Amino acid sequence: MDLHNRLKLAAPAFSYVDGRLTAGGVDLAAIADAARGPAYVYALDAVLEGFNAFRTAFAGQPTRICYAMKANDSVAILKVLADAGAGVDVVSGGELALALAAGVPADRIVFSGVGKTDRELVEALEAGVMQVNVETAYELERLSALAVERGKRAAVALRVNPDVDAGTLDVISTGRATDKFGIAYDEAEAIYAKAATLPGIDLAGVAMHIGSQIADVAHCAAACAKLRALWERLAANGVRLRRFDIGGGLGIRYRDETPPSIQAYAETVKAAVAGLDCEVVLEPGRRIVGPTGALLAEVVSIKHAAGLRFVILNAAMNDLIRPALYKAWHEIVPLVDPGDAPWTPAEIVGPVCESTDKFAAARPLPPLKPGDKVAFLCAGAYGAVMASEYNGRPRAPEAVVRNGQWSFSRPPRQYDDLIREQSLPAWL
Ligand code: LLP
Repeated sequence: MDLHNRLKLAAPAFSYVDGRLTAGGVDLAAIADAARGPAYVYALDAVLEGFNAFRTAFAGQPTRICYAMKANDSVAILKVLADAGAGVDVVSGGELALALAAGVPADRIVFSGVGKTDRELVEALEAGVMQVNVETAYELERLSALAVERGKRAAVALRVNPDVDAGTLDVISTGRATDKFGIAYDEAEAIYAKAATLPGIDLAGVAMHIGSQIADVAHCAAACAKLRALWERLAANGVRLRRFDIGGGLGIRYRDETPPSIQAYAETVKAAVAGLDCEVVLEPGRRIVGPTGALLAEVVSIKHAAGLRFVILNAAMNDLIRPALYKAWHEIVPLVDPGDAPWTPAEIVGPVCESTDKFAAARPLPPLKPGDKVAFLCAGAYGAVMASEYNGRPRAPEAVVRNGQWSFSRPPRQYDDLIREQSLPAWL
C-alpha cells in the first residue's frame, strides 16, 4: 500500500503538503530543528476528534469518559480534553496532581491502580475524586478507615477481574484470573457485602479493565456480560450500584490491524448494559491519543555491515521503548516525501549502548542520509510517558500543534537539568 494511504489509515492527522510531512498545518521539520534532538509532536485537533468520537458513539447512554492519562500526560492534552468535558483516569498521586493542575475537575477523576499507598488514598480523598477503583479487600478497609478519620466517605467501584482473555498481547492483558489485577470474580460478592458495612465507603459501582490494544469487541462483550451478571446478583441482594466502569483498551491500527470502530464498541457496551440504571464509565487512553502523536528523529549515521543497511538515529529506546519492550511495530516515514525513490530494507537503530535499542529490522525505507529526518507514527500513546534518561539522554521535548501554530508543551531539557537534579552528599 502506498505511503499516503498508509498515513491516511493509521495516522490521518499527518499528511504531506508540498512534499513535507505536516500536522495541524505545521511543517514538522521546524519542530525537529528547534528541538535539536528527538521530539514528540501531538495534533490537538485529532485528540479532540478522538474524544468526540467516543462521545457521539455513546450518545443516548449516560456515560462519563475518563481519559486514561497514563497513555500521555501532556498537560496541553489534558486541558483540551477537560475543556471538552472529559474526565481522567489516574493511577498515581503524581498523575492526580498533574490532572488537577491541568484543570481537570476532581469530580471527574477516577483513581485506579493495583497498589495505591495510604498517601495516595488520602490524596484521592482530599481532592474529592469521583471514584476510587479498589483492587483488594485490604485496600477497601484501609480506604474506609482513612475516610472515617477525615469525616469523609469515599465513592468506590470494586475493580473485578472477570477472568476473560482480551485476545491481545500476553504482556498487556490484565483481565485473566492469573493476572495481578482486580478482585477475583468468585470473591467479589463477598467483598461487596463487606463493603456495604464499611462506614467510610459509598459503594458506587463495578469496574474492570481487561487489557490494552483490544482487537475484537467480542472480548469486551464477554467481560461486560460477567460484570452485568455480578451487578444483577448484587442488586438481588440489595446492593444498589450506579456506575458500570468498563475500563479502556480499544486498539488502534499501527500496521495493518483493523481495530473495531468506536461505534461498534459502543453498540456492544450499550447492548451489554441495556436496561440497567447506570452511568457507563470509559477509560480510553490509546484510542484517543495514539494516532495523534509522532516521534521525530534525525539520521545521525548510515553504515553497511553483513549485507545490512543500518540507519542510526538520534532517537533511541529511552525515547520510545515500545519496540524494545513489546516488539511493537511503529510506522516510520521520512519527513520529506520520497516520491518514486525505491524502498529497500533497513535496520533502524538508536545510539544507546544496547542491542535492544533497535526500532525495526528489515524495514523498507527510501534512501536516507545523515541529516534526513523521519517520524515514528502512532507514538501519541505510551511514548513520551515511558521515556527515561538512560545513557544521559535528556527526555525528548513534546510539542503540540493546532491551526498552523505550534509550541513546546514540554520544552527541551538541557544537560544542566541533568546535573542540577543530582546532589553530592555533604559528607563526600
Ligand atoms: N484503565 C486502566 C485501569 C488501565 O490499566 C489502562 C491501561 C487503561 C485504562 C487504558 O488502556 P488503553 O485504552 O490505553 O488501552 N504500555 C503498554 C500499554 C499498557 C496499558 C496499561 N493500562 C503499551 O505501550 O502498549
